[in-house]
Amino acid sequence: MPLMTWSSKFSVGVIALDSQHTLLFGILNELHDAMMKGQAQAMTGPLLRKLADYTRTHFTAEEGMMATARYPGLNEHRVKHRGLMKQVEEYVGRFDRGEISLNIQLLNFLRDWLNNHILKEDHQYGPWLNEHGVH
Ligand SMILES: [Fe+2]
Ligand SMILES: [Fe+2]
Repeated sequence: MPLMTWSSKFSVGVIALDSQHTLLFGILNELHDAMMKGQAQAMTGPLLRKLADYTRTHFTAEEGMMATARYPGLNEHRVKHRGLMKQVEEYVGRFDRGEISLNIQLLNFLRDWLNNHILKEDHQYGPWLNEHGVH
């Protein structure tokens, strides 16, 4: 069973951003698969790196769209992104230094981290972006 399943409740109303979120779900599911198959140690480093890199790419794209639409909550949202990026980078660093291994607690943390951000913060920009021509 995948760790995360996409459903319409996650939609922010912007196609490109929904597909980027779906891709992030996919990377978390790959991490979960690796753990379930006992490939955790060999696979996790590159997958965690992939997650951090793609998260950065996504945040930049999302902020770019908010800037184009002159979304008033952009600065506040940017601060949240920076905080999230710091958290994920911290985990990658701890993993690289051998201080932690991939386990269900880490996966649950990453799942909640992504879920909460999409459902609480990303959902707020959807209507504004749609009203300003971004779909
Ligand atoms: Fe966001
Ligand atoms: Fe997002």
